[in-house]
Amino acid sequence: MTQAIPVRVALVTGASRGIGAAIAQSLARQGRHVVLVARDAAKLAEVEKSILDAGGKASVHACDISDTAAVEKLVDDVATAQGRLDILVNNAGITRDGLILRMTDEQFDEVIRVNLKSAFVACRTALRPMMRNKWGRIINIGSVSGLVGNAGQSNYATAKAGLVGLTKSIAKEMAAKNITANVVAPGFIETDMTGVLPQQVKDYAVAATPLKRMGSAAEIAGAVAYFASEEASYTTGQVLAVDGGMTMY
Ligand code: NAI
Repeated sequence: MTQAIPVRVALVTGASRGIGAAIAQSLARQGRHVVLVARDAAKLAEVEKSILDAGGKASVHACDISDTAAVEKLVDDVATAQGRLDILVNNAGITRDGLILRMTDEQFDEVIRVNLKSAFVACRTALRPMMRNKWGRIINIGSVSGLVGNAGQSNYATAKAGLVGLTKSIAKEMAAKNITANVVAPGFIETDMTGVLPQQVKDYAVAATPLKRMGSAAEIAGAVAYFASEEASYTTGQVLAVDGGMTMY
C-alpha cells in the first residue's frame, strides 16, 4: 500500500509582495499550507486573503528576518503549531547598491545580514523538524548577480554567491536525511525591487537578455514549485538560473 502524502507545510520569507507572494500563491495552489513571512503585517494579510479566497491554506507571521533570535523563534513556532515544516523558501532580500569605492561597511553588512545570514539561521532551525520527518525541501532565492557579478552590487553579489555555497553544503550534509537544497537564481524580474531602477538600466538588462523581456514573478515561482515538489526528490545542490537566457554563455 502506498502511503498518503501529508499536507506539506511551507514557509516563505519576503512573501508580502513580488516574487515571494507569487511563490506563496503557487505553493498554495499545489495544496501546501503556506506560512507567509515579512515585516509588513498588513501586506502579508492581503496575500494571505488572496490564498484563502482561492481555497488555499495560509497563515502569516510578521518578522524582521535580520533578527537571528526572531527567526529561530518563528521557525520553531511554525513547526510546533503546524506539527511539521517541510519546505523552506528563503526569498526575502534587499539591495543597497553602490560602486565599491563608495560602499560603506553598513551597506555591505546589512545586505549580508538580510540576504545571507538570515537564510543560514532559517535553514539551521528548519532542518531539525525536517530531519524528524526525513523529508525536506530548501529553496534559496539567489540571483544572476551572484553567479556572474554585477557592477554596483559587490555586497548583493557576495550575499547571493554565498547562498550558493550555503545551499550546496546543506545539500551534501543533509542528503542522507532525504532533505534537498537548491537555488533559483532569477535574472531581471518585474517587481518593486526593479521598478525603482532608471529606464536606461532596464533597457540595458533587457538588451542583455536573449528572450528580450523582463521575467515575471510567476516564472520564478514555477521553478520554486518544481524544487519543492515530491517529483524533485533526486535533484539537490543545483542552481537554476531563470533569467531569459542571460547567463547561458
Ligand atoms: P521585493 O523588494 O519586491 O520584495 C522583497 C520582500 O522581502 C518583501 O516582502 C520584503 O518585505 C521582504 N523583506 C526585505 N527585508 C526583510 C526583512 N529584514 N525581514 C523580513 N522581510 C524582509 O523583491 P523581489 O523582487 O520580489 O525579490 C525577491 C527575491 O528575489 C530577493 O531575494 C531578490 O534579491 C531576488 N531577486 C530578484 C530579482 C528581480 O529582478 N526582482 C532578480 C534576482 C533576484
